[in-house]
Amino acid sequence: MQQIDAAAIETLGIPRVLLMEHAGLAVVRAVHQVVPDPSAPLVVCCGTGWNGGDGLAAARHLHERGHPLRVLVTGPLDRLREEPATYARILRGLGLTLVECLGPEGLGDLDRWLAGCRLVIDALLGIGARGVVREPAASVIERINQSGKPVVAVDLPSGVDADTGRVQGVAVRATMTVAFGRAKRGCLLAEGPAHTGTLVVDPITIPLRLLEGAVG
Ligand SMILES: NC(=O)c1ccc[n+]([C@@H]2O[C@H](COP(=O)([O-])OP(=O)(O)OC[C@H]3O[C@@H](n4cnc5c(N)ncnc54)[C@H](OP(=O)(O)O)[C@@H]3O)[C@@H](O)[C@H]2O)c1
Repeated sequence: MQQIDAAAIETLGIPRVLLMEHAGLAVVRAVHQVVPDPSAPLVVCCGTGWNGGDGLAAARHLHERGHPLRVLVTGPLDRLREEPATYARILRGLGLTLVECLGPEGLGDLDRWLAGCRLVIDALLGIGARGVVREPAASVIERINQSGKPVVAVDLPSGVDADTGRVQGVAVRATMTVAFGRAKRGCLLAEGPAHTGTLVVDPITIPLRLLEGAVG
């Protein structure tokens, strides 16, 4: 999938932000499949990579549709790469507060937010995650699971290894996972299916000839 992304972005010249926008819209559709109520309060948990960027892109659309939102980012906002930083700027311009969770002290509000929400979006870690889940993401995942709220996972449930399906210390238990381009092997193997929930695959406008030509 990383090779397909590279072919779409670098060879065909599709801007990453365009794919991110479609990824965000695919997440919105999944959220509305699980909770159709446009006034349902949501919590969006984002990492600092592109998976987190997809979560921020979804947040923009969910805000426009009227959902009260709480947005958490597990790292300093000034470390976000170009496209996630663009969405973070837009969200702040729209009046949303993005809360940086830099350690356990940043988790205080999360339990309260989770108690008051109808659904959680897990955009912490995708196919770029390596090894055992580190803090503060690990604690955020534990809190999400303890909340018992429905979860829509972005591309892959955070903490599930994308290739093997093994849990990397701790992993989100999703109600629905929206995979971009193709389903990640980890959603189908080992502990993956138990964490993936309903699996939806969305091409996010990656050309079909790239998706069909790849070995997976
Ligand atoms: N919209 C698009 O254009 C598009 C297209 C295809 C895919 N995607 C999305 O992008 C994702 C891949 O993005 P990515 O390559 O940036 O990777 P990622 O899955 O977002 O993960 C990378 C981030 O996770 C952190 N991280 C890595 N291993 C960790 C661990 N064990 N514990 C805690 N944090 C960890 C990294 O921090 P450090 O750098 O500090 O290690 C980095 O911030 C896909 O899954 C998909 O969701 C987006």
